Amino acid sequence: MKVAVFNTHKFEKEYLIKANANKHDLKLLDSYLTLDTTVLAEDCEGICIFTQDNGSAPVLDKLHEMGIKYIALRSAGYNNVDIAHAKSLGIRIVRVPDYSPNAIAEFTVAIILALNRKLIRSHYRIMEMNFSLDGLVGFDMHGKTVGIIGTGKIGRIVAKILHGFGCHILAYDAMKDQNLVKECKATYTDLDTLCSQSDIISLHVPLMEQTHYLINEAQIAKMKKGVMLINTGRGGLVNTQDVINGLKSQQIGYYGMDVYEEEEGLFFEDHSEDILQDDMIARLMTLRNVMITSHQAFLTNTALGNIAQTTVENLECLEQGLPCKNEVL
Ligand code: NAI
Repeated sequence: MKVAVFNTHKFEKEYLIKANANKHDLKLLDSYLTLDTTVLAEDCEGICIFTQDNGSAPVLDKLHEMGIKYIALRSAGYNNVDIAHAKSLGIRIVRVPDYSPNAIAEFTVAIILALNRKLIRSHYRIMEMNFSLDGLVGFDMHGKTVGIIGTGKIGRIVAKILHGFGCHILAYDAMKDQNLVKECKATYTDLDTLCSQSDIISLHVPLMEQTHYLINEAQIAKMKKGVMLINTGRGGLVNTQDVINGLKSQQIGYYGMDVYEEEEGLFFEDHSEDILQDDMIARLMTLRNVMITSHQAFLTNTALGNIAQTTVENLECLEQGLPCKNEVL
């Protein structure tokens, strides 16, 4: 199948080429998918996109007119695609639901530890020949209460790792995972209780209408003063302006963000020569108790290999008109 692969980065190209082994005619493109770049998919049957690509209704309409029948997402999340609209156009959509939940879970714990023990600040101090420890006091993880919002594939691994640290696990999810209750003595509770009792809160639910701005001014007000909030889920799970206000008032003591509601066009790119136009992230960048990474949690060699492999398999299913276990239904 001829596929326009949008938004490909240096870090993933070799994995895609190796997994494909010339099975499909992959047109590796640097451009993001937008209304203007749809033309790059001319003569293709399918497109392959990532989290920052624009899969809104107008873009889908254009792709449909051009004869695109398939969309293969190289991600687990699919909030950037108007699924209902794609279905109405008869476009089949596949994704990579399970490429390495460990990669994201481990990164989440890395952010928690780096923020808590002020590792980045300490490293920069040493580079400046400043060996002082003042201002670097952290807290023991052991005995702290961690609230996991979303105990699916990623959230449950975060819970298990932190249980190993001696943390108490509170969980919030539409579906209870009884193994987590048994193995980690996790207690499922409502969102308000989780917010009010947790020292650390980590977000692992998908972004959809019901979870958009799940963390907002009202929820932040219910949290323990000085709470650590971690978002490796999706930017839109938190109202960023409310989080900034919470950080300014010190209601939030630490914020770790791997995702950002305005990340499109910002994350994944080198903007070091540009004037930063985004005032929210500019404000966040001034705060020492904030750690920002550029949607990096998934970025391990295991994850990249699995993403590439599953994407090629998904395309094979579509090409052969077979049902695909990774289809977004
Ligand atoms: P999953 O589908 O295994 O787990 C999601 C959990 O959220 C499920 O247990 C589900 O019951 C729960 N849930 C869904 N809607 C809910 C609601 N309204 N209220 C309460 N619970 C609800 O997904 P997985 O693999 O754990 O991934 C979670 C999210 O992590 C993805 O949707 C994606 O947005 C994000 N992600 C971030 C990455 C990164 O690099 N930063 C990479 C991969 C995923």
